[in-house]
Amino acid sequence: MEALNLKSVSMSFGKFTVLDDITIPVASGTFLGIVGPNGAGKSTLIKIMAGILSPTSGSSLLYGAKPIEYRRNHPIGYLPQQQKININFPLTVKDVIYLNLANRTKITKKAKLKMVDQALKNVGMLKSKDMIFSYLSGGQRQRVLIAGTIVTMPEIIFLDEPSTGIDVVNQDNFYGFLSHLAHTHGITVIMISHDVGVISNYIDKIAYLNRRLYIYGKTEDIDMDEAIYNTYGKTGKIATYMNKNKTGFTCPFKDFE
Ligand SMILES: Nc1ncnc2c1ncn2[C@@H]1O[C@H](COP(=O)(O)OP(=O)(O)OP(=O)(O)O)[C@@H](O)[C@H]1O
Ligand SMILES: [Mg+2]
Repeated sequence: MEALNLKSVSMSFGKFTVLDDITIPVASGTFLGIVGPNGAGKSTLIKIMAGILSPTSGSSLLYGAKPIEYRRNHPIGYLPQQQKININFPLTVKDVIYLNLANRTKITKKAKLKMVDQALKNVGMLKSKDMIFSYLSGGQRQRVLIAGTIVTMPEIIFLDEPSTGIDVVNQDNFYGFLSHLAHTHGITVIMISHDVGVISNYIDKIAYLNRRLYIYGKTEDIDMDEAIYNTYGKTGKIATYMNKNKTGFTCPFKDFE
Protein backbone atom coordinates (compact mmCIF):
# COMPACT_ATOMS: atom_id res chain seq x y z
CA MET A 1 0.00 0.00 0.00
CA GLU A 2 1.27 3.41 -0.89
CA ALA A 3 1.06 5.87 1.99
CA LEU A 4 2.09 8.84 -0.07
CA ASN A 5 2.11 9.48 -3.76
CA LEU A 6 3.46 12.76 -5.05
CA LYS A 7 3.34 13.10 -8.83
CA SER A 8 5.03 16.00 -10.61
CA VAL A 9 4.39 18.38 -7.74
CA SER A 10 5.43 21.99 -8.32
CA MET A 11 4.90 24.94 -6.03
CA SER A 12 5.34 28.63 -6.72
CA PHE A 13 4.83 31.65 -4.52
CA GLY A 14 4.08 34.38 -7.06
CA LYS A 15 6.79 34.07 -9.71
CA PHE A 16 9.12 32.25 -7.36
CA THR A 17 9.25 28.49 -7.92
CA VAL A 18 10.08 26.70 -4.69
CA LEU A 19 9.43 23.13 -5.82
CA ASP A 20 9.89 21.89 -9.35
CA ASP A 21 8.38 18.63 -10.60
CA ILE A 22 8.74 16.44 -7.52
CA THR A 23 7.69 12.80 -7.81
CA ILE A 24 7.96 10.73 -4.62
CA PRO A 25 6.11 7.48 -3.96
CA VAL A 26 6.34 6.23 -0.34
CA ALA A 27 5.21 2.74 0.69
CA SER A 28 3.41 2.52 4.02
CA GLY A 29 5.67 1.67 6.94
CA THR A 30 8.61 3.56 5.44
CA PHE A 31 10.80 5.83 7.54
CA LEU A 32 11.70 8.58 5.06
CA GLY A 33 14.23 11.33 5.66
CA ILE A 34 14.15 14.57 3.67
CA VAL A 35 17.37 16.59 3.59
CA GLY A 36 18.61 19.65 1.73
CA PRO A 37 20.01 23.15 2.30
CA ASN A 38 18.12 26.05 3.90
CA GLY A 39 15.46 27.37 1.55
CA ALA A 40 15.41 24.10 -0.45
CA GLY A 41 11.63 23.81 -0.09
CA LYS A 42 11.58 21.01 2.51
CA SER A 43 8.99 22.59 4.83
CA THR A 44 6.86 23.55 1.83
CA LEU A 45 7.03 19.96 0.56
CA ILE A 46 6.06 18.38 3.89
CA LYS A 47 3.10 20.79 4.15
CA ILE A 48 1.92 19.66 0.71
CA MET A 49 2.35 16.02 1.72
CA ALA A 50 0.30 16.60 4.89
CA GLY A 51 -2.41 18.51 3.03
CA ILE A 52 -1.71 21.84 4.72
CA LEU A 53 -0.79 23.47 1.39
CA SER A 54 -2.05 22.64 -2.09
CA PRO A 55 0.55 22.44 -4.85
CA THR A 56 0.44 24.83 -7.80
CA SER A 57 0.48 21.81 -10.11
CA GLY A 58 0.78 18.04 -9.84
CA SER A 59 -1.00 15.71 -7.44
CA SER A 60 -0.43 14.50 -3.91
CA LEU A 61 -2.29 11.56 -2.39
CA LEU A 62 -2.38 10.24 1.18
CA TYR A 63 -3.28 6.54 1.30
CA GLY A 64 -4.92 6.89 -2.11
CA ALA A 65 -7.09 9.88 -1.16
CA LYS A 66 -6.76 13.63 -1.45
CA PRO A 67 -5.02 14.74 1.77
CA ILE A 68 -7.96 16.89 2.82
CA GLU A 69 -10.34 13.92 2.42
CA TYR A 70 -8.03 11.50 4.19
CA ARG A 71 -7.74 13.89 7.12
CA ARG A 72 -11.50 14.04 7.58
CA ASN A 73 -11.51 10.45 8.86
CA HIS A 74 -7.95 9.84 9.99
CA PRO A 75 -5.66 11.64 12.40
CA ILE A 76 -2.20 12.56 11.15
CA GLY A 77 0.76 13.65 13.22
CA TYR A 78 2.33 16.93 12.12
CA LEU A 79 5.09 18.76 13.95
CA PRO A 80 5.90 22.12 12.33
CA GLN A 81 9.41 23.50 12.23
CA GLN A 82 10.27 25.11 15.58
CA GLN A 83 9.16 28.69 15.75
CA LYS A 84 10.53 31.16 18.24
CA ILE A 85 7.08 32.05 19.49
CA ASN A 86 6.35 33.08 23.01
CA ILE A 87 4.10 30.36 24.36
CA ASN A 88 2.74 31.83 27.54
CA PHE A 89 -0.37 29.88 28.29
CA PRO A 90 -0.80 28.29 31.72
CA LEU A 91 -1.39 24.73 30.45
CA THR A 92 0.39 21.78 31.98
CA VAL A 93 2.40 19.34 29.89
CA LYS A 94 -0.36 16.72 30.08
CA ASP A 95 -2.99 19.31 29.04
CA VAL A 96 -0.96 20.14 25.94
CA ILE A 97 -0.95 16.48 24.90
CA TYR A 98 -4.56 15.88 25.94
CA LEU A 99 -5.72 18.66 23.57
CA ASN A 100 -4.72 16.48 20.62
CA LEU A 101 -7.37 13.96 21.67
CA ALA A 102 -10.15 16.52 22.12
CA ASN A 103 -12.22 15.40 19.12
CA ARG A 104 -11.86 11.66 19.77
CA THR A 105 -15.29 11.22 21.29
CA LYS A 106 -15.30 7.40 21.19
CA ILE A 107 -12.36 7.07 23.57
CA THR A 108 -13.03 7.26 27.33
CA LYS A 109 -11.29 9.88 29.43
CA LYS A 110 -9.45 7.17 31.35
CA ALA A 111 -8.10 5.66 28.13
CA LYS A 112 -7.10 9.10 26.88
CA LEU A 113 -5.17 9.83 30.07
CA LYS A 114 -3.35 6.53 29.64
CA MET A 115 -2.50 7.43 26.03
CA VAL A 116 -1.16 10.78 27.22
CA ASP A 117 1.09 9.05 29.76
CA GLN A 118 2.38 6.59 27.17
CA ALA A 119 3.15 9.33 24.67
CA LEU A 120 5.03 11.33 27.32
CA LYS A 121 6.93 8.26 28.47
CA ASN A 122 8.21 7.78 24.94
CA VAL A 123 9.88 11.14 24.85
CA GLY A 124 11.16 10.84 28.43
CA MET A 125 8.81 13.55 29.75
CA LEU A 126 6.38 11.58 31.90
CA LYS A 127 7.86 12.89 35.14
CA SER A 128 7.15 16.46 34.00
CA LYS A 129 3.50 15.87 33.13
CA ASP A 130 2.13 18.23 35.78
CA MET A 131 4.58 21.04 35.06
CA ILE A 132 3.52 24.22 33.29
CA PHE A 133 4.48 23.75 29.64
CA SER A 134 5.88 27.26 29.19
CA TYR A 135 8.32 26.74 32.11
CA LEU A 136 10.13 23.92 30.28
CA SER A 137 13.42 24.32 28.41
CA GLY A 138 13.33 24.57 24.60
CA GLY A 139 14.40 20.95 24.10
CA GLN A 140 11.92 19.69 26.70
CA ARG A 141 9.09 21.61 25.02
CA GLN A 142 10.05 20.08 21.71
CA ARG A 143 9.88 16.59 23.24
CA VAL A 144 6.40 17.32 24.58
CA LEU A 145 5.27 18.59 21.17
CA ILE A 146 6.61 15.39 19.58
CA ALA A 147 4.54 13.38 22.10
CA GLY A 148 1.53 15.37 20.86
CA THR A 149 2.06 14.11 17.31
CA ILE A 150 2.08 10.43 18.32
CA VAL A 151 -0.64 10.41 20.97
CA THR A 152 -3.45 10.00 18.42
CA MET A 153 -1.66 6.95 17.00
CA PRO A 154 -1.86 8.09 13.41
CA GLU A 155 -0.93 5.94 10.40
CA ILE A 156 1.41 8.68 9.23
CA ILE A 157 3.57 11.23 11.02
CA PHE A 158 5.20 14.33 9.50
CA LEU A 159 8.06 15.87 11.47
CA ASP A 160 9.81 19.07 10.39
CA GLU A 161 13.24 19.15 12.07
CA PRO A 162 11.93 17.45 15.21
CA SER A 163 15.26 17.01 16.95
CA THR A 164 16.11 20.73 17.09
CA GLY A 165 17.31 21.48 20.61
CA ILE A 166 17.15 17.89 21.78
CA ASP A 167 20.30 16.47 23.36
CA VAL A 168 22.19 13.69 21.64
CA VAL A 169 21.09 10.78 23.87
CA ASN A 170 17.43 11.71 23.67
CA GLN A 171 17.77 12.20 19.91
CA ASP A 172 19.11 8.69 19.60
CA ASN A 173 16.24 7.23 21.63
CA PHE A 174 13.84 9.27 19.56
CA TYR A 175 15.15 8.09 16.17
CA GLY A 176 15.15 4.52 17.51
CA PHE A 177 11.54 4.98 18.56
CA LEU A 178 10.50 6.35 15.13
CA SER A 179 12.24 3.44 13.45
CA HIS A 180 10.34 1.05 15.74
CA LEU A 181 7.00 2.72 14.88
CA ALA A 182 7.74 2.30 11.17
CA HIS A 183 9.21 -1.18 11.19
CA THR A 184 7.12 -2.90 13.87
CA HIS A 185 3.81 -1.09 13.51
CA GLY A 186 3.83 -0.04 9.86
CA ILE A 187 3.49 3.66 10.70
CA THR A 188 4.79 5.86 7.91
CA VAL A 189 7.25 8.45 9.22
CA ILE A 190 8.30 11.44 7.13
CA MET A 191 11.03 13.50 8.76
CA ILE A 192 12.98 16.57 7.68
CA SER A 193 16.44 16.79 9.20
CA HIS A 194 19.83 18.42 8.71
CA ASP A 195 21.67 15.51 10.39
CA VAL A 196 22.17 13.42 7.24
CA GLY A 197 24.84 11.19 8.75
CA VAL A 198 22.99 10.44 11.98
CA ILE A 199 19.55 9.78 10.54
CA SER A 200 20.98 7.50 7.84
CA ASN A 201 21.43 4.89 10.57
CA TYR A 202 17.69 4.72 11.11
CA ILE A 203 15.78 5.76 7.99
CA ASP A 204 14.91 3.47 5.07
CA LYS A 205 14.78 6.03 2.30
CA ILE A 206 16.19 9.46 1.77
CA ALA A 207 15.18 12.36 -0.46
CA TYR A 208 17.84 14.97 -1.32
CA LEU A 209 15.90 18.11 -2.16
CA ASN A 210 16.99 21.51 -3.42
CA ARG A 211 13.98 22.97 -5.23
CA ARG A 212 14.04 19.83 -7.33
CA LEU A 213 14.54 16.25 -6.20
CA TYR A 214 18.18 15.39 -6.78
CA ILE A 215 18.22 11.86 -5.43
CA TYR A 216 15.59 9.59 -3.92
CA GLY A 217 16.19 6.03 -2.85
CA LYS A 218 17.23 3.55 -0.19
CA THR A 219 19.96 4.92 2.07
CA GLU A 220 22.22 1.92 1.45
CA ASP A 221 22.12 2.46 -2.32
CA ILE A 222 23.22 6.09 -2.16
CA ASP A 223 26.73 7.50 -1.95
CA MET A 224 26.21 10.13 0.72
CA ASP A 225 29.21 12.31 -0.18
CA GLU A 226 28.25 12.41 -3.83
CA ALA A 227 24.61 13.13 -2.99
CA ILE A 228 25.61 16.01 -0.68
CA TYR A 229 27.92 17.42 -3.34
CA ASN A 230 25.21 17.29 -6.01
CA THR A 231 22.44 18.69 -3.83
CA TYR A 232 24.31 21.33 -1.85
CA GLY A 233 26.91 22.16 -4.53
CA LYS A 234 29.70 21.58 -1.99
CA THR A 235 31.16 18.84 0.09
CA GLY A 236 30.46 18.90 3.81
CA LYS A 237 31.79 17.10 6.83
CA ILE A 238 29.18 14.49 7.70
CA ALA A 239 28.90 13.61 11.36
CA THR A 240 27.85 10.05 11.99
CA TYR A 241 27.00 8.90 15.46
CA MET A 242 25.21 5.82 16.62
CA ASN A 243 24.40 5.00 20.19
CA LYS A 244 24.25 1.25 20.69
CA ASN A 245 21.78 1.51 23.56
CA LYS A 246 18.41 1.87 21.96
CA THR A 247 16.28 0.74 24.85
CA GLY A 248 15.27 4.16 26.12
CA PHE A 249 11.73 4.06 24.77
CA THR A 250 8.62 2.04 25.33
CA CYS A 251 6.07 1.49 22.66
CA PRO A 252 2.72 3.23 23.16
CA PHE A 253 0.97 0.79 20.87
CA LYS A 254 1.35 -2.35 22.92
CA ASP A 255 -1.45 -1.45 25.29
CA PHE A 256 -3.83 -0.25 22.60
CA GLU A 257 -3.50 -2.77 19.83
N1 LIG B 1 4.19 31.44 2.09
C1 LIG B 1 5.30 31.77 1.41
N2 LIG B 1 5.32 32.85 0.59
C2 LIG B 1 6.43 33.17 -0.12
N3 LIG B 1 7.59 32.47 -0.08
C3 LIG B 1 7.62 31.40 0.72
C4 LIG B 1 6.49 30.98 1.50
N4 LIG B 1 6.82 29.86 2.19
C5 LIG B 1 8.10 29.60 1.85
N5 LIG B 1 8.58 30.50 0.97
C6 LIG B 1 9.92 30.52 0.37
O1 LIG B 1 10.15 29.26 -0.18
C7 LIG B 1 11.52 28.88 0.00
C8 LIG B 1 11.58 27.52 0.65
O2 LIG B 1 11.11 27.62 1.99
P1 LIG B 1 11.03 26.35 2.96
O3 LIG B 1 10.58 26.87 4.28
O4 LIG B 1 10.20 25.32 2.30
O5 LIG B 1 12.55 25.89 2.99
P2 LIG B 1 13.28 24.77 3.89
O6 LIG B 1 13.95 23.82 2.95
O7 LIG B 1 12.31 24.22 4.85
O8 LIG B 1 14.42 25.62 4.64
P3 LIG B 1 15.03 25.49 6.14
O9 LIG B 1 16.07 24.39 6.10
O10 LIG B 1 15.67 26.81 6.37
O11 LIG B 1 13.90 25.23 7.08
C9 LIG B 1 12.17 29.99 0.82
O12 LIG B 1 12.90 30.82 -0.05
C10 LIG B 1 11.00 30.72 1.43
O13 LIG B 1 11.26 32.09 1.60
MG1 LIG C 1 12.13 24.25 6.85
